[in-house]
Order: sequence, then structure tokens, then C-alpha cells
Amino acid sequence: MDGYLAEYKKRTRTSAKIFAKSSKLHVNGVSHNIRFYEPYPFVVKKSSGKNLTDVDDNDYADYWMGHWSLILGHGPKQVKESLKKQIEKSWMYGTVNEQTIRLSELISKAVPVAEKIRYVTSGTEATMYAVRLARSVTGKGIIAKIDGGWHGYTSDLLKSVSWPFAESESSGMVNEEKIVSIPYNDLEESLKILKKHSKDLAGVIIEPVLGGAGCIPATRDYLKGVEEFVHKNKSLFILDEIVTGFRFRYGCLYPTMKLDPDIVTLGKIAGGGMAIGVMCGKKEIMGFADTAGKKKSERSYVGGGTFSANPASMVTGYATLSSLKSKKSVYSKINSLGEFARKEITKAFDGRVAVTGKGSLFMTHFLQNGISEITNSAQASNCDTQTLQRYHFKMIAHDGIFFLPGKLGAISDAHSKEDIKKIVLASENF
Ligand SMILES: Cc1ncc(COP(=O)(O)O)c(C=O)c1O
Repeated sequence: MDGYLAEYKKRTRTSAKIFAKSSKLHVNGVSHNIRFYEPYPFVVKKSSGKNLTDVDDNDYADYWMGHWSLILGHGPKQVKESLKKQIEKSWMYGTVNEQTIRLSELISKAVPVAEKIRYVTSGTEATMYAVRLARSVTGKGIIAKIDGGWHGYTSDLLKSVSWPFAESESSGMVNEEKIVSIPYNDLEESLKILKKHSKDLAGVIIEPVLGGAGCIPATRDYLKGVEEFVHKNKSLFILDEIVTGFRFRYGCLYPTMKLDPDIVTLGKIAGGGMAIGVMCGKKEIMGFADTAGKKKSERSYVGGGTFSANPASMVTGYATLSSLKSKKSVYSKINSLGEFARKEITKAFDGRVAVTGKGSLFMTHFLQNGISEITNSAQASNCDTQTLQRYHFKMIAHDGIFFLPGKLGAISDAHSKEDIKKIVLASENF
């Protein structure tokens, strides 16, 4: 591995200097904890199509793809053109604009539950408001989330994210007892926990494919079982589709599983690479956020922010979704590339790995501790995560391939089968 470290340092000399400056100015040198990796992250100068180019002029085929937000690749023409046109008209109004309405018309047609929508500027805000809304609607306090579920940095949901789940993720948290955690894909155990808290259960928040914690699809029976319990209990079922929305098909994943969420959160792809978070849901639920004529004690005060529904994010979101709508073959292409990646990487490692995921998302787990399949984040966390880090780092240092070390990969329309074959070859060499 020392050889790869030396190779990386040799190829990224300018990045090293610039990152040293960044470290003086920023905590850990970064503005999102996960963007740091040892010895220092390369510094990006530009991006285009499938590639990131660093300040030393190294190109990397990118599978991080802007936190998985860039389904069409970096800087796709149609999105760039829309943004240029908008910039001519200016990029921040702070008032009602038609760009927002156009995006909402697309979302509400593609996501049937989006009878009412509120925009924010990050997924973190969308899930934070979804939690508050669930508490307002039900008059109850407890929110259940998944062991390993990541919904952003909201103080409510920053619990049981990383192994060991029982340990608090951060100091400075309050009312942690109001968040309970259930094991993914284990309906019996999850229902036991939910029943224990049923009286004060405001809602459950779940990703249909567990993202950061292992790229693990939920079974339909699991999600349906949780949803049925939640609805019988008069609590709310919140689906976090910030990663999965518009990722596998034009729309959300939940209709394909015949689920009936009350609130859905979106982000990432829906903003086409600009800042966005979307909270949407059934009219009667979202109606609680309507402030007209309500006393403070009756309303749920959620949503917004200075930059909410800014026209720049609205047009990049619109250009991305309308491109996907008019060219649905993007999905068959990237989904089958994902299938190919899972199969061929598993083969390259002679079955010593499990490659999880769905459609264009995939993640390699180095099996150990008797684990033979990955259906939840406890299993993912107990695989050999150090080898995963080394595998990803080797590809950055040696193969011109970028996965954020330890994280899942996302294939975009800018990638080709040849690109995936390069990952397979790099895997064989590793
Ligand atoms: C499932 C899920 N929910 C919420 C978030 C938070 O979104 P953001 O980073 O835009 O705040 C993320 C971010 O990765 C996510 O993966």
C-alpha cells in the first residue's frame, strides 16, 4: 500500500499544497466531514461528463458524482444551457417565481404523493421538517429510524448512524430518547421495538435503499410491514427518497413497491446538481404546514430558508428531470451498467466480496467475520472496511478512478461499459 501512497503523493503535489492552505482555514480542511480521506483529498479544478480533473491535471472517472446527485454526469449540456439562461436573468429573487412552478408540475406528476410541495436547500432540512411535521400532525414525539440510516446532519436524526449504533454520534444532542432505532430488513424485531413505543410514536423515517450505510435495498415485505403497523398506529410513514428519487426510474421507488407514504423527501437529482431539498406529501398531511388563519399552537411551522426555491436550483432541477423524462433510456442504460458492475466485481474478487446495490448504485463489501450476505448496516459495518478504504484509495492513486473512499458508487449517463470494465480490471489487480 505504501507504493500507492507514494504514487498518490507524487501525482498530487499541487493538491497537497492547496489542501494545507485549506486546513488552516477550514475544520479538517473540508466543509463536509466525509470529504476528507488520508493523506489528503485531491483538489478539483474542473469537471466534465464522467470526469473530475484535479489541480495537478489528473483525470478521474468519477463514481461519487456530486454526492450521487449528477445522474446525467458533470455539466450536461441541457442543464448548463438552462442555468446560463437563468443567470442572465439573475439567480436569486427571494420571491415567488415560475421556475418553481414548472419544477413542481414535473415532480407532482412523477411522484403521485406530492400533492403539496415545499422546497428547501438541502436534504438535511427536508428531513428535519418532515420530522417536525410528523410530530405536529400526530401530537406525538418519537421518531423511529433505521440502524445506519443517514438523513443528514439534523440534530434529531443524527442518531444510530454508524456502528456501534448505541453510541451517540455527537455531543451536543438533546432529547435523544425521542429517536428510536430499528434494524433494517428485520420486520419481527422492528415491530417489537415500534410496539414498545407505539403510544408516543409520531412516525418512522426509512430509505428504500439504505444509502451511506451500505447501499442495501429494503425488501418490499419489510417496508410494507412497517408501513402497515405505522398506519394502524395513526403515526406517519416517511420515505426518504433523497438518494433513490429519480435514480432508478423517472419518479420514486415507492410506487414500484406499492407503498403508501405520507411524506416523501427528495433532493440530489431533483436539483440537477444545485442546492435543493424537497418535502412533499399528501394534501391533508402537508396542510398542517399551512399557516393561514392558524394560531401558533395549531400550525406546523416548517420549510423555507433564504435560498429556498431559488430560480437557479429550480431550472437545473427542471432541466435534469425533463431530460430524464424525455430520454427514459438513460435508466435502462445505467441500471444495466450497475447490474454488470455488481456481477463482474463479484467475479473479479472470486466471491470474497458482496457487491450490494440496485440499478446504477453499487458498493463492494469485503466479507469477513462469517458474514456471507449484506442485508443490513450491522453486517456492512462488520465487513472489512479497512480493505474497502484501501481498494478505493488504490483506484484513486493508480487507476484514475474516484470513489469517495468507503462510499457507494453511482453510475451516470456519462459512463460507459468500458468505464465499468476499467473498475473490474482495477479490482482484479487489487
Ligand atoms: C438518504 C439521505 N437523506 C438525507 C440526506 C441529506 O441531504 P443533504 O446532504 O443534501 O443535506 C442524504 C445525504 O446524503 C441522504 O443520503
